[in-house]
Amino acid sequence: MKNEVIVGDKVFELFIPESEIATAVKTLAGKLNSAFEKKKPLLLVCLKGAFMFASDLIKELNFSFDLVFIQISSYSGLTSTGNVKAENPIPETLYNRDVIIVEDIVDTGKTVDFVCKELLNVNVKSIHVLTLLFKPASCISKQNIDYFGFQIPSDFVVGYGLDYNEEGRNLTSIYKLKKTI
Ligand code: IMP
Repeated sequence: MKNEVIVGDKVFELFIPESEIATAVKTLAGKLNSAFEKKKPLLLVCLKGAFMFASDLIKELNFSFDLVFIQISSYSGLTSTGNVKAENPIPETLYNRDVIIVEDIVDTGKTVDFVCKELLNVNVKSIHVLTLLFKPASCISKQNIDYFGFQIPSDFVVGYGLDYNEEGRNLTSIYKLKKTI
């Protein structure tokens, strides 16, 4: 595991090593295993960032669930554009389901707000929000974040599915921005 990586024109430093991520994923899965046993919830995974987290998480789940992926975009470079859009429509099969939104990171919370609004439009039964990373100081959403792995400062991070201009998603640990080269 490297202490520093270069992604695009930036240097990032080690922030959350993969062993700590693995522990957090197991803890989160344990909480879901207790809360959703017998409910057959639907996991709504927000692509692209949450693909690696979701993949590791579902291996630890021991209840029956459905899996749906949606692709949401709002970020450009290091900042949220605030212009959240879904690349594909929210499926109507979510009607009357207990939905767990699976996010990689909640930053401003605009993405979560957008997804929740879409889910309410298709009359889901309940909504729970699960995210690996949560930046509370940046978050302007009133939506409750039911489950999070780590609360982090408002630094820009890459790795474990998260990207900087589509690069760095394959890093197995999470790195935070150090400097521009
Ligand atoms: P929000 O709508 O501002 O909460 O941002 C949510 C989305 O922005 C996430 O799903 C990520 O795709 C992206 N994002 C937010 N913060 C970061 C970051 O630090 N690194 C990489 N992507 C981020």
